[in-house]
Amino acid sequence: MPKKAKPWSGRFEEPVDERVKRFTASASFDKRLAKYDIEGSLAHARMLAGRRILSRRDLRAIERGLARIRREIGAGTFRWSIDAEDVHLNIERRLVALVGEPGKRLHTARSRNDQVATDLRLWLREEIDGIGVLLESLQRNLLDQAERHAALVMPGFTHLQVAQPVTFGHHLLAYVEMLERDRERLLEIRKRVNRLPLGAAALAGTSFPIDRERVARELGFEGLCENSLDAVSDRDFAIEFCAFAALAMVHLSRLAEELVLWASPRFGFVRLPDRFCTGSSIMPQKKNPDVPELVRGKTGRVVGHLMALLTLMKGQPLAYNKDNQEDKEPLFDAVDTLKDCLAVFAPLVADLEPVAAAMRAATLEGHATATDLADYLVRKGMAFRDAHGVVARAVREAERARVDLAALPLSQLRKFSEKISADIKGTLSPEGSVAARRHRGGTAPSEVRRAVARARKRLRR
Ligand code: ARG
Repeated sequence: MPKKAKPWSGRFEEPVDERVKRFTASASFDKRLAKYDIEGSLAHARMLAGRRILSRRDLRAIERGLARIRREIGAGTFRWSIDAEDVHLNIERRLVALVGEPGKRLHTARSRNDQVATDLRLWLREEIDGIGVLLESLQRNLLDQAERHAALVMPGFTHLQVAQPVTFGHHLLAYVEMLERDRERLLEIRKRVNRLPLGAAALAGTSFPIDRERVARELGFEGLCENSLDAVSDRDFAIEFCAFAALAMVHLSRLAEELVLWASPRFGFVRLPDRFCTGSSIMPQKKNPDVPELVRGKTGRVVGHLMALLTLMKGQPLAYNKDNQEDKEPLFDAVDTLKDCLAVFAPLVADLEPVAAAMRAATLEGHATATDLADYLVRKGMAFRDAHGVVARAVREAERARVDLAALPLSQLRKFSEKISADIKGTLSPEGSVAARRHRGGTAPSEVRRAVARARKRLRR
């Protein structure tokens, strides 16, 4: 075999075209899987030795060689080359250079097809655990803020118009819930990621008496991929991870959008810490919310990666096709982007400073307690539809007088219904409005505190 030839070039009559070599190589990005490739190879080699497919001596040589390669990669001295195409062949080539003959035996009963699927699952499993921790820490910071501001009144919006008073704590808890569902999804996905493809070999399994259960145990897999064709070819685990990531990013983008709005001088609801903002090179007065804007913007990338993987998989005949080499860059970038966004949002949220006066003033700008007046009339015996009409007329009057409904004096209110009396006091204030919503899931400060406690308990599990 000429020196630069590929391990598979035995059947070819001419060397591969330089352009093809570059086009088909993946080492530049899949070297990220090296650590898992080595782990997988060690487990495979030990299993082969256990089944006497490989001698003890060969196993020791392979272990020694792989340990050395691991050190070289860690130290940055490993020489990656596109001549060796991908991470698997780079490592194998180095192993053969280091230990000779035994290195050539490692690939017995294995193919790069089951190898790459194994590496990717091991890598993703570890990333999933890291992302779980990041999600939790963002949730914890939201919970701390929600508790601190359980009674801080702000306008709740529908159609981006002031609708009803809520508390800032309650508003933040909405995001805690979204992230909780994201975390549940992530844990569900982890179970399906955590199955061993190794043993499927190229597609049909192997004629050697392998012990897949042992390999699974050693690598911490919860189960085996049950069909060899499926094991090497489907990437649904990566797709559903990207679906999770896209959805988590969509959730972050909503919070990002609110931060952008709230931090704008028009709203002035929050102050973002200076160290999370940037300035303008031309307008000296500006303090821009670049971090939330970027989070909002990066959502598009992750949604795009989901589309890329779905499209990659669509219509692929069984079993492995080289198309699947294209799964890595979108998946890697989805993981990196989500992690970056979570890591920057957690401390940003921790240091958010709500501006109580601006929030309260805005709550008093949109007749936000109109529903409370209607509910009051219902408690006095009026049908809700009639109460709705009465309050609508009162709101018209308030608009004419250019005041908030809550500011109309009792004498004025009584013009719309005799049922309104002195006990209306408090009902129409934002504080009275939120305090009245005392059921589970409601915005009353007492409920917000209870919800925080429940959410904290959920996180400790
Ligand atoms: N680099 C390849 C990938 O990422 C590894 C598997 C290649 N197998 C093959 N038969 N060409 O999918």
